Amino acid sequence: MLLITCPFGLSSILWKELKLLWYNPQDTFPTWTFIQGDKSAIYDINLRSWIANKVFLLLWESNTQRFVLIFDFVYSLDFWPYIQSWQKISISAHSQDSALTSIPSIQSISQKAIIKKIAQASFSDVDPDKPDFEIFIFLQNNICKIFINTSWISLHNRWYRQQALDAPIKENVAAWLVLLSWRKFSQAFYDPFCWSWTICIEAAMIAKNMPVWINRSFAFQDFPDFDSKLLQTVKEQALSKVFTAKTYQIFWSDIDPQAVKVSKQNAINAWVADTITFSQQDFLLLSDLSWHIVSNPPYGKRLQDFDLSAIYSHIDKLFSIWSLSWWIISSYEWFQDMINKSDYSSKTIFNGADKCAFWKKA
Ligand SMILES: C[S@@+](CC[C@H](N)C(=O)[O-])C[C@H]1O[C@@H](n2cnc3c(N)ncnc32)[C@H](O)[C@@H]1O
Repeated sequence: MLLITCPFGLSSILWKELKLLWYNPQDTFPTWTFIQGDKSAIYDINLRSWIANKVFLLLWESNTQRFVLIFDFVYSLDFWPYIQSWQKISISAHSQDSALTSIPSIQSISQKAIIKKIAQASFSDVDPDKPDFEIFIFLQNNICKIFINTSWISLHNRWYRQQALDAPIKENVAAWLVLLSWRKFSQAFYDPFCWSWTICIEAAMIAKNMPVWINRSFAFQDFPDFDSKLLQTVKEQALSKVFTAKTYQIFWSDIDPQAVKVSKQNAINAWVADTITFSQQDFLLLSDLSWHIVSNPPYGKRLQDFDLSAIYSHIDKLFSIWSLSWWIISSYEWFQDMINKSDYSSKTIFNGADKCAFWKKA
């Protein structure tokens, strides 16, 4: 069994995405979902999921209704074929429909068992802040399930973001905005506040059906049963599904010339530079558009010095143009006081720690 994690609130789109990738997701929680999957599913989802953060593999399970049993069970497990001697370990936990409900206690008792085992093996260490190897303990219906992270660092850290500007949107949140809103790839797509182009790059990759990851390392490559030939086959299959013949109309603009420099390199890194057209443009001068717009305007938390009230008034003005399909993600709290709410619908979403609303033209 695999447990696939995602940012808070994105699991329904993760569920749909897994269906599209021909998997059969089961129970869905706000930040993860389960599927039955083998080694090729682990490789495939790590390479191709736009929404996932990490893919965890269930290694062991046991019926446990007392803390001492959790300790004994975790202590009895042989993690060492999976953990490298230099790796720092982190342990997190969750409980559902079980007699033991205290997550900190489950976490700490498991950690104690692992530390005792590590002391015997005299290698590795526990480091919750910068882990190389993650263990997730899930107590479900009194069954203690031990998962390990097959992905290593989160899949949202896309390789194209080698140069990051401040305040970028998380890549899998940007992919979520695109998957949720852009139904017809034939319709022109536009981000008028593009900054490091995250939304447009994700849109281009989704339209072209590009695998998210081809050239990175995964934790599963250090596992004892790693199959390099299978990984190669999964990569070739993913690349064979890329749409190379079709052309898409994806446009972005930003007022800041620095965005041009950094972002062009990001699009080249993502192999989508040919798909996207850039212009330096003040949004306040735009009056008539008939495109699908998904954007993350400034909201004054990390990027200062913009006239937010003018920007959001102009957004509200352009929202009323019937031919536009408009979606914006923002945590600018005054926006809701400026608008006629019946013109909009909104969803709550987290971009990292920032609570945002994803506003849609109703
Ligand atoms: C929050 S950032 C967008 C982040 C982007 N989604 C990303 O992840 O890279 C807001 C952007 O709005 C741009 N901006 C601010 N005022 C503008 C205006 N009047 N016209 C166009 N762009 C503007 C800023 O230069 C900045 O790049």
